[in-house]
Amino acid sequence: MQNFRAEHLGSGRKAEHWPKPSLPEYAFIGRSNVGKSSLVNMLVGINKLARVSNTPGRTRNVEHFKVEPATSRAAEKGLGMAWMLADLPGYGFAKVSRDERAAWKTMIDTYLLERENLQCVFVLVDVRLEPQKNDLEMIQWLGEHQVPFVIAFTKSDKLSQPQVVSNVALFKRVLKKTWQTLPTLFITSSETRKGREELLEYIANINAGWRG
Ligand code: GTP
Ligand code: MG
Repeated sequence: MQNFRAEHLGSGRKAEHWPKPSLPEYAFIGRSNVGKSSLVNMLVGINKLARVSNTPGRTRNVEHFKVEPATSRAAEKGLGMAWMLADLPGYGFAKVSRDERAAWKTMIDTYLLERENLQCVFVLVDVRLEPQKNDLEMIQWLGEHQVPFVIAFTKSDKLSQPQVVSNVALFKRVLKKTWQTLPTLFITSSETRKGREELLEYIANINAGWRG
């Protein structure tokens, strides 16, 4: 297993508060409570890096983290350089005012369209749920704006393997209605660490092409 060192670089709502875009960056987006912060912690292998909470809507700002290899093992696997993660506030939380929702949209649009070092957005989807309108809208928006993204299904430990397979198949069928080629899909669990190696390999490949 790779070991990393990580640090919280900052928390901000506006571009001028975000860290300098000097390293390749990966963002985690998805419905409130889908497991974004947990996945960040699972990937990096540090439990309390990003704040995990049972109260939905806890992450309000863009939370930036810098990740660096802590062992030569990480370096061997193509993760020898530093990179950044952005934990984004979730959408779809009912108890949010219209003003807050509008502020979220402005911030997220700015981030996704203007963050120049953004390499890929991981759209997290709760594998237990039927395809949700707001997830599909997010995916549609990313596609229309040509923001590179992949889908990471979360909480796969909460279902049996056949249920996971059937829910992912349903999601694919819905995507196929609008997409000719499907985005890359990952099945993950922050509990069992399923998908960790695959996601890290994906990140390593992109990092390898970074010319900052
Ligand atoms: P917001 O920041 O509020 O939008 O939520 P989030 O998407 O960051 O979710 P968070 O990581 O805080 O997790 C929400 C809840 O789901 C917590 O109680 C986590 O422990 C739980 N959880 C997250 N991922 C998994 C998973 O893979 N498996 C299981 N069983 N629980 C998970
Ligand atoms: Mg969070």
